[in-house]
Amino acid sequence: MSRAAVWKQINSLRALGISIEARHARGYRLLETPDLLFSADVLKGVNSRIIPRSLELLPATDSTNLQLRKKAEAGAEEGTVLVADEQLAGKGRLGRPWTSPSGVNLYCSLLLRPQIPVQQAPQFTFLSAVAVVDTLKSLCTITAEVKWPNDILVGGAKIAGLLNEMSAETEQVNYIVLGIGVNLNMTAEQFPDELNYPATSALLETGRQVPRGHFLRELLQRLDFYYCEFLEQGFAPIRQHWEQLCPIINRRVQVNGELTGTVVGLEVDGALRLQLDSGRFERVIAGDVRMVN
Ligand code: BTN
Repeated sequence: MSRAAVWKQINSLRALGISIEARHARGYRLLETPDLLFSADVLKGVNSRIIPRSLELLPATDSTNLQLRKKAEAGAEEGTVLVADEQLAGKGRLGRPWTSPSGVNLYCSLLLRPQIPVQQAPQFTFLSAVAVVDTLKSLCTITAEVKWPNDILVGGAKIAGLLNEMSAETEQVNYIVLGIGVNLNMTAEQFPDELNYPATSALLETGRQVPRGHFLRELLQRLDFYYCEFLEQGFAPIRQHWEQLCPIINRRVQVNGELTGTVVGLEVDGALRLQLDSGRFERVIAGDVRMVN
């Protein structure tokens, strides 16, 4: 290979953010490799049935959920996964932004086309919650818990968020886009000052960097496992698993500072089943749920 050809390749590597030192008459030296995401790395050794059928990694996009919804409308197949290194308009729940700096976290969206009635669509938020909690445990030795309906917390601070978006025709689901954001290697300075809840990352919890490609591979395998389990056995196994991860089951809670009672479980549409102090059962479909004594 000519010097010019080597130089050209070195420049392409530098453009990816890899730092390489050049020394006159000696050659090049690799100084530092950033945590880059390559689909071949992620897919290495993956043994799954549906997720991922295809995996696309984007350097930057507005929002992986937004882009995947466009692909879904254009007919993309179930199991399509879209991941971005950086999101310029990451979406959180309730129209909030999701902070998505480049090179540090996981921003991932997954397309599913289950043949289910609309009311069951929220079940997929619980499916992604158990997959994220399992992956944090096995890969980062972090014990996270789920705050209903879809926050993943460590010691009360949010480490991951889930945004489940759906399109439906008549009463049937057309497609579901599951958006998953996990704070992996974000430093304290990278969280915005205006964040009005405590937040954390795997790095802040353990002091160790998490290779994003490895985390993504493990997460996709778990999502595949739970989705196949769902197709074969329905929601019951996921609900059971989720209830073990959510510390409010069998605890006394207050909803929106008003209703007080004991949470006895989750309903098929993801609503909380609450037994009020009067003995009456109440469904809670949204709201701020806090534990009380
Ligand atoms: C929340 O508010 O808790 C939900 C956050 C969801 C963030 C993820 S990151 C990947 C996907 N793309 C988005 O724009 N949002 C979701």
